[in-house]
Amino acid sequence: MRILKTIALSALTVLFINCGGGDKKEDKKEEVKLKTNTSTSTKKEDPNVTEIVLLANDQMQFNMKEIKVPAGKKVKLVLRHTGKQPVEVMGHNFVLLTQGTQMSEFAAKASTARDNDYIPEGTDQVIAHTKMIGGGQETSITFDAPEKGEYTFICSFPGHYSMMNGKFIVE
Ligand code: CO
Repeated sequence: MRILKTIALSALTVLFINCGGGDKKEDKKEEVKLKTNTSTSTKKEDPNVTEIVLLANDQMQFNMKEIKVPAGKKVKLVLRHTGKQPVEVMGHNFVLLTQGTQMSEFAAKASTARDNDYIPEGTDQVIAHTKMIGGGQETSITFDAPEKGEYTFICSFPGHYSMMNGKFIVE
């Protein structure tokens, strides 16, 4: 009897271990499934939205000098700060200016609007803008592409616009 009991217990133990192993495998499968789902959902593109990913770094640079989007569609602009500096030191945003706006004049006004995320309060010179972010952060905005033409985008953090600007072309 005692031997039988021992055998039964060992069998149970083996079963238990096997189950444990099996569960872990299941977990891994789940993880893979989740990852696959995420990538498929990113691939599902809305044909009416043009997605732009703009990078900004600790060297006060955008990775694009020119952004081209089609007219008559929405634009989803993702701004990603790839640096490490905090927002107070190396803040970046994306500000799309109306045609005819003087970049340097606007930037001067913006630099005094610290309490308003460096966007002049009540301005009519901004078509769209993201919030200000620091290193490692990401933000996005979705807006209607303005009418065909050439526009200017800048980062309105004090002192950044002269290096951080580019053309936003709607065609
Ligand atoms: Co900046």
